[in-house]
Amino acid sequence: MNRIPKAASTAHTCKKYKNEAEKMNALIYGAKIGGIDCQKCNNRGVIYLMQGDEVVFKKCECWKVRQSLLRIKRSGLEKLLRKYTFERYEDEEPFQKFIKQKALDFLKDKSECFFIGGQVGCGKSHICTAIVGELLKQGKEARYMQWRDDITRIKLNANTPEYSALVEPFKTVEVLYIDDLFKTEQGKSPTTADINIAFEIINHRYINSDLITVISCEKTMQELMEIDEGVASRIRELSDKYTICVNKDRNKNYRLKGVW
Ligand SMILES: Nc1ncnc2c1ncn2[C@@H]1O[C@H](COP(=O)(O)OP(=O)(O)O)[C@@H](O)[C@H]1O
Ligand SMILES: [Mg+2]
Ligand SMILES: [Zn+2]
Repeated sequence: MNRIPKAASTAHTCKKYKNEAEKMNALIYGAKIGGIDCQKCNNRGVIYLMQGDEVVFKKCECWKVRQSLLRIKRSGLEKLLRKYTFERYEDEEPFQKFIKQKALDFLKDKSECFFIGGQVGCGKSHICTAIVGELLKQGKEARYMQWRDDITRIKLNANTPEYSALVEPFKTVEVLYIDDLFKTEQGKSPTTADINIAFEIINHRYINSDLITVISCEKTMQELMEIDEGVASRIRELSDKYTICVNKDRNKNYRLKGVW
């Protein structure tokens, strides 16, 4: 139960409402989220009541679901989470069984980092999203970093006051999902700026062992080492037994299933 400062009293000027709590319950509306339309709290997540002559509020029974949906919205993964789930991940092929088992073990182990690199279309983004979906369900705050888009935005703001506001959330959020690390336009090599920003983010997460990082990358760990050993070796150490490299083999591209 939380006390809130007594509002400037307008309650008794309005005869319809017996007290301020009743008035607030009737007049203050929150926002509908994820299709939840709660009549009990008018979508505020809290219900006001009087305690003596003080207005207090308690959490509504919809509070938990509402918070979880808000976390999903803030993560930037709202749409993908519906599609890329463990349930929808097929594991007929041995390499798919291996990937799925690693992902499940990673969650069970509460490990710090999951890295999957290699073949395009083999389900890297699918499995990473499924992992992050589970972590969100556990109540963790997550952020989705689409490497190519986000890094472009960050670089455009280099040497401006906005720079740290853009990078900081990726450094500090409880769960960071980097999709397609070091992906560039037309397969160009990552620039020094790309590498420096990756280092800033990864190194911060490397030092803070309570943070979780989930990474998908079209490069294998070996290729990543060639780009930058500082970044790659930190990821390698963090992800430890949850480092997966899918060898480049078009038969593993789900998008081409049945094509050959
Ligand atoms: N094992 C799988 N089961 C179900 N769908 C899959 C599987 N692997 C890949 N897909 C689907 O194929 C498409 C490409 O997968 P994606 O995860 O984006 O590949 P990658 O990130 O490795 O390039 C997505 O629509 C994804 O849902
Ligand atoms: Mg992908
Ligand atoms: Zn409610």
